[in-house]
Amino acid sequence: MHWKSLHKLSRPISSLTKQIWLQMNNVHSVAATGFNQGNHYDSNRPSYTDQAIRYIVDVLSELSPLNRKDLKYDVLELGAGTGKFTEKITLCISQDVKYLASEPSESFLGVLRNKVPSFVECASFTADAIPLPNNSVKLIIAAQCFHWFANHENLQELYRVLVPGGRFVMLWNNKDWSIPWVKSIEDILTQYYDEDTPRAVSYKWKHVIESFSGFSLKNHQLLPGIQMRGDRDFVVGHFSSISVISRLSPEEKQEVLAKFYNVLDSNEMTKHLSEIQIPFHTEIYDVEKMVL
Ligand SMILES: C[S@@+](CC[C@H](N)C(=O)[O-])C[C@H]1O[C@@H](n2cnc3c(N)ncnc32)[C@H](O)[C@@H]1O
Repeated sequence: MHWKSLHKLSRPISSLTKQIWLQMNNVHSVAATGFNQGNHYDSNRPSYTDQAIRYIVDVLSELSPLNRKDLKYDVLELGAGTGKFTEKITLCISQDVKYLASEPSESFLGVLRNKVPSFVECASFTADAIPLPNNSVKLIIAAQCFHWFANHENLQELYRVLVPGGRFVMLWNNKDWSIPWVKSIEDILTQYYDEDTPRAVSYKWKHVIESFSGFSLKNHQLLPGIQMRGDRDFVVGHFSSISVISRLSPEEKQEVLAKFYNVLDSNEMTKHLSEIQIPFHTEIYDVEKMVL
């Protein structure tokens, strides 16, 4: 389905119908139900470091010789969410860059559209059906989202739209689970994941991309992470924006948030602090389209 048809469709239909539509269209049910409170997500999620943004801006400059007649976009950002990454990178690139940001959640897309500069086009489509011709994009970016659509068929679709020599760059803000209080929260979170729910830290995405013959690895780097700090409510707000928690009923959510507060109030590292830093590192995985 062309994305313009989806826009026409998405307004009048009920959220349940939309959810079913998204599930049919390759959005995992946890993502379809957990990423639907755009404003909450946007206020509680981290941005990206200057170093990570610089890395991708440099990749874009390296790709500048790949100008071709059939090129439609310099950048396609998939799973752009509420624009946490988009808002930052677009401050560092020229307005001549042809930038398409796509996000399937209607609520997230609304926040995204309101914050990005006018040279960014926004659309609603998923990684399995990119409404663009073959060989028409230089750089695909997936910030904090590739694990949601990491499978062979989707990689084939990304491969199809990239120009030969084009790049697919994935990045994540990963929490440092080796810190004891973060680990205690992780243990709670883990109870809400089943085996089929994608999670960046499971590294299933890495296995999928390594087994795909069309891409060759350019770089895999762990970099210092973004600084995010705030009071207990802020920290609990952050963890409550994680899809498996965000989708719970109000009663279930209240129960899990109480467990998060309990960790912060009892852990030696956090119990005396009025401001707590959530420790992150940045992971970048960058591949190039090879001509087979
Ligand atoms: C954790 S959010 C990341 C959002 C944003 N990129 C950021 O950095 O905050 C994951 C995003 O992936 C999107 N997503 C999930 N499944 C997808 C799919 N099959 N194709 C494209 N996007 C998808 C979700 O709607 C959600 O916005």
